[in-house]
Amino acid sequence: MDLAVLEEEVRNYDLSTAEGRASFRQRFLRKGGILDRLLSELPTLPLEERRLRGQRLNALRQLAQQRLAQAESHSSSPSLSPLAFADLTFPLVGLQPGARHPLSLIEQRVLTLFQRLGYTLADGPEIEDDWHNFTALNFEPDHPARDMQDTFFIDPSQGKLLRTHTSTVQIRVMERQAPPLRILAPGRVYRHETISARAHVYFHQIEGLCVDEGISAADLRATLEYFLTQFFGSGTRLRWRASYFPFTEMSAEVDIACRICQGKGCPVCKFTGWVEVLGCGMVDPNVLAACGIDPDRYTGFAFGLGVERLAQLFFQIPDLRLFSENNYRFLQSFATYAHLA
Ligand code: DAH
Repeated sequence: MDLAVLEEEVRNYDLSTAEGRASFRQRFLRKGGILDRLLSELPTLPLEERRLRGQRLNALRQLAQQRLAQAESHSSSPSLSPLAFADLTFPLVGLQPGARHPLSLIEQRVLTLFQRLGYTLADGPEIEDDWHNFTALNFEPDHPARDMQDTFFIDPSQGKLLRTHTSTVQIRVMERQAPPLRILAPGRVYRHETISARAHVYFHQIEGLCVDEGISAADLRATLEYFLTQFFGSGTRLRWRASYFPFTEMSAEVDIACRICQGKGCPVCKFTGWVEVLGCGMVDPNVLAACGIDPDRYTGFAFGLGVERLAQLFFQIPDLRLFSENNYRFLQSFATYAHLA
């Protein structure tokens, strides 16, 4: 029996008449009634399902009891309408509804779009080790790319550091799961930067990884073009550029036409008219091998999105610092975007 359907029925049952209330009681609250029967069937279900269904059934019974009690109290004192007591001229003491943080809104929007393609969530720690942040990702010991990212080391002698990218989660997932894999890993990352309108010591990324037999660059391109046109709108102009990352072979970056200046040139796009929104590529065979995945059998692609960058372009926010300063008026202005998430 579908509990959602039953809940609909409990919520919408007409309790305005005495007959309605009697038949409601008869159907839902009587001993041997429908809820009682469903509860007695619980022991035949597997443990986890039993727990969840038990909780929902109990909540449903409470709801039915509450609705009935409320309907009965209204019917016994019809003259006590709440309006009779209300002073309609009284000034409203505004209860300000809260607002989701713009970065959460954007993150949730990205996750929803990829969940439609079958991606699931993965997670990893912010305090990482050298293996997951660099070595398994094919950074050689004195590879210049290690300097590309200024790292906060916690304990250099043990290689403990704050992760500089969410690519660490690719490694963690591939180490413990066999393909086929399709995961998205959102999270905070840290870099030793001077705080300015364009850079911060921490920001947020979303890493994507897809590994299976026969995955090609065409899959990478189709997936990311689907995402970007859904996210920014179908008229958005994209530009693919060849790039380099130690953990991908081939590597690319994708730019979109700057939405802040419409391509005319502004500080956000460094007066080029284009803004980079993601890095991506085909997972380097060395990375698959480092995680115990056979590179002769499997191929994959990966990508990394900057959440602040997406939010900046989506909401046209010129200064990164606004995302972390908790200015009340700034945050409150996102209350109208609740539908995004
Ligand atoms: N980790 C890269 C960075 O922080 C972003 C990135 C690039 C992630 C390419 C990827 C990728 O998975 O394939 O700049």
